[in-house]
Amino acid sequence: MVKTISDLLTMKQNKEKISMLTAYDYPSAKQVEAAHIDTILVGDSLGMTVLGYDSTVQVTLDDMIHHSKAVKRGAPNTFIVVDMPFGTVGSNPDQDIANAVQLYQQSGAHAIKAEGAHIESFIIRCKALGIPVVPHLGLTPQSVGIMGYKMQGASTEAAQQLVADAQRMEQAGAIMLVLEAVPSDLARKISKTLTIPVIGIGAGVGTDGQVLVYHDVLNYGVDRHAKFVKQYGDFAIGVEALQQYHTEVKKHEFPSVEHTYKKKVWDEE
Ligand code: KIV
Repeated sequence: MVKTISDLLTMKQNKEKISMLTAYDYPSAKQVEAAHIDTILVGDSLGMTVLGYDSTVQVTLDDMIHHSKAVKRGAPNTFIVVDMPFGTVGSNPDQDIANAVQLYQQSGAHAIKAEGAHIESFIIRCKALGIPVVPHLGLTPQSVGIMGYKMQGASTEAAQQLVADAQRMEQAGAIMLVLEAVPSDLARKISKTLTIPVIGIGAGVGTDGQVLVYHDVLNYGVDRHAKFVKQYGDFAIGVEALQQYHTEVKKHEFPSVEHTYKKKVWDEE
């Protein structure tokens, strides 16, 4: 059964941690659902993990829709959040809403996520239209050109600003908050201050839930890991399997009899 927004709220109230993992395609979504992970994020990190870009900046609305549809087919019973990609929120209020409607309507996701503290009025307008929004504060990778990939909220002023921003997001009608790369005591404070669930990444254990990137967790095609990543599996082992296949083809060992249709249709070979 797909969890509802109210289920996620109840989990926070009951101090049950919420697990979230990214997925970008049908097989990864199937695995995440089979693992009973509470929620899926179709993150624009797919720009790096799946499409091979060096940041999320190149990812388009069409990319997000395309991948979310596959995720939805793979995980029909999981609550799915999809990212608004770079430049689709914050330039023109009417265009922002048109983008949100298109993504929400076509992706099949249950909520949309948008980065930055400037999205208060966007959240209000989306809520009025019936679109649940998950703001993303702290390190926001779409702003890498300005903030880099570094911890946020490290000074008292910056920390106070983040608490205030988070409160504004909740008051605007956000259903959940993603908080990335901030000191753990700040993340705990924000999680305690807000009534909506706060999902952390690189934000310590005091948040209401955790999100990680599928490819980081499984060491799948990733060259560098952030400090906050924990690897739980190793898909790099797949390379050995591929080498074995290559060797067997070269040595005429694959296909063997068991992988061959043996019905005789020619008299001679
Ligand atoms: O795109 C993404 O995967 C994300 C997570 C890092 C939270 O935004």
